[in-house]
Amino acid sequence: MLLTDVNYPSLRQTTTFSGPRKIIFGVGSGKDLAKEIRQLAGSKILIVTYPEATTFAVVQEITKSLQSDGMDFAVYSQTESEPRIEVAEDLAAYTRAGRFDLVVGMGGGSVMDLAKIASMSTTNPKPVRDYLGVDLLARKGAPLICIPTTAGTGSEVTMFSVLSVGEKKMDVVSPYILPDIALVDPLLTTTMPFQVTAGTGMDALSQAIETITSLATTPLTDALALTAIQLIARWLKVAFVDGSNIEARSGMALAATLAGLAFGSGKLTLGHSLAQTFGPVRKVPHGVSCGVALPYVMEFYLPVIPEKLSLVAGALGLQTRGATATEAGAAAIRAVIKLAEDVAIPASLRELGFDKGELPELSEICVKEWPRPNSPRAMTKQSVHEVFERMWEGRILT
Ligand SMILES: [Fe+2]
Repeated sequence: MLLTDVNYPSLRQTTTFSGPRKIIFGVGSGKDLAKEIRQLAGSKILIVTYPEATTFAVVQEITKSLQSDGMDFAVYSQTESEPRIEVAEDLAAYTRAGRFDLVVGMGGGSVMDLAKIASMSTTNPKPVRDYLGVDLLARKGAPLICIPTTAGTGSEVTMFSVLSVGEKKMDVVSPYILPDIALVDPLLTTTMPFQVTAGTGMDALSQAIETITSLATTPLTDALALTAIQLIARWLKVAFVDGSNIEARSGMALAATLAGLAFGSGKLTLGHSLAQTFGPVRKVPHGVSCGVALPYVMEFYLPVIPEKLSLVAGALGLQTRGATATEAGAAAIRAVIKLAEDVAIPASLRELGFDKGELPELSEICVKEWPRPNSPRAMTKQSVHEVFERMWEGRILT
């Protein structure tokens, strides 16, 4: 099965691919930050990062280079993972008061999502809460440079900012928060603890595979997603075991950016709906939730898109000659389960502390709050409940 054999429903209509104006990728490329800021004519710079980042040598080197360039910048590091709307409001107030004209987000997905909020708040004056939803921003904000220090969310190349509102995840979706520049330096990911490497890596894998299952995917987004899957199959476990392996870190950094570009236009499906529903209830990190859900999502879609999942099998490096598309897709599911096990992702919702009695309500919330018009199979309360039940038990049928 090749990409050219796929019948793409999306190609019968006009499709759009969006990404940052510039993507800079390379070991040591973080040093280019000052040059890029000058090109964007930033004069009062806000760096949004996370508290620990300020103690890391590689990050200090970058801020030192801005200092020696005589740049006027402030650092906002009162961020948190899975950020609450209250934190976003605080950052927006700080950004408006400081009259910053360029924002740099340096951190994982949560930090970059917050940097998007800082950027948009410079020209969109209402509370952040009022912009939760799709296309509610009136104009672009200050120029935005995103520098990932994890390899997973792909936030550096997407137009989404995800925030926690109570126990719910909600997002700001707008082309006006697409970063102007994604500056991807794998060196910055070497400080990631192994659990974060695992979770963020599984997030990237979920994003790539869900894109391939989506009805909105195109040959362009599939090509990006399949390359991301190849890189993750090759490097995730290596990076998990040896975080200082720069080749593995580079492979994963590239995979995360490619998966971000893929799902930014090809869209996500059931996996992220499930993860965004149950993750916040037990404060499970986003990538871990995605990793728990992924095999079950693939199983859910296998009967309707076996050819697409056989492409995933090929990208995972599986030998599928002579196998039917369904057999190849099933092999891909087993390979994903094995990879998740290898990087210590929990195997079930039960293991994460969920009670079986919670599943009906979770199913209802999932269908109501996270519908996916691009899902190739209908997400009904009944079908989602069945998926949740198998996830709870850790029982794959395939
Ligand atoms: Fe994600």
